[in-house]
Amino acid sequence: MQAPIGVFDSGLGGLTVLKELIGKLPDYDYLYLGDNARAPYGTRSFDTVYKYTRQCVQWLFDQGCPLVILACNTASAKALRNIQQMYLPGAAQENRVLGVIRPTAEVIGNFSRTGSIGVLATQGTVLSDSYPIEIAHYFPHLKVAQEACPMWVPLVENAEHDKPGADYFVQKHIDSLMKKAPDADTLLLGCTHYPLLMDKIKSAIPKDMTVVTQGELVADSLADYLNRHPEMAVRLSQNNKRSYASTDSPELFDSQAALFLGQSVASFYVDLG
Ligand code: DGL
Repeated sequence: MQAPIGVFDSGLGGLTVLKELIGKLPDYDYLYLGDNARAPYGTRSFDTVYKYTRQCVQWLFDQGCPLVILACNTASAKALRNIQQMYLPGAAQENRVLGVIRPTAEVIGNFSRTGSIGVLATQGTVLSDSYPIEIAHYFPHLKVAQEACPMWVPLVENAEHDKPGADYFVQKHIDSLMKKAPDADTLLLGCTHYPLLMDKIKSAIPKDMTVVTQGELVADSLADYLNRHPEMAVRLSQNNKRSYASTDSPELFDSQAALFLGQSVASFYVDLG
């Protein structure tokens, strides 16, 4: 039996990745789950992020998804390894869960001429040091400065990202990052919510700085993965179908999802207990 690709985020941010997955691989079906009731994950403990992520992945497996993309850096940083090494072998040996950090780390160094980049991410992702560690495998000489932006996800989840109040929090973290890495010429938005703040970020940084978002990188990496794994590709349905689920109000999800996707959606409610 064939089934959709599962795409998971703590809330709405993963839709910025889903949008690019649909753009690159439009024929596949996708089932998106946002754990809006428990977002944000960025300030939660390792154990809590692992528990929540595992529950969401299990729900997507229960719906038949053989492949799940964690379209969330925080979950990728804090839960992916445990899910792959400890959970999958017992719970769903044939299924696969992929994150967003590796596909980003593999190419991020190619964007920089100065050999110095800045990473903006949630507190959880920054404290995990996942980016510096992963990037060092591919670009051992690249300097990586990090800045945690704990207010940015709540601003986006509450549709305040384009309001004047957001300016202060954007400027504050950009200034702090630029102090840590004055020679950085590339800025990685290491949280899938942050592309919604793009206009404000661009007006806060030097004009010649490159801003990298993850959606396209993850889509390219998934296309490559499916080429290399035809045994997984044949398990995925291809009817151009997209479904959306939220652990909080579907009405709320639908009203905000259009901002991320550029199209309206009709989600349904999921109770994870
Ligand atoms: N979109 C998630 C990420 O990429 C946000 C995490 C959160 O809920 O704080 O990290």
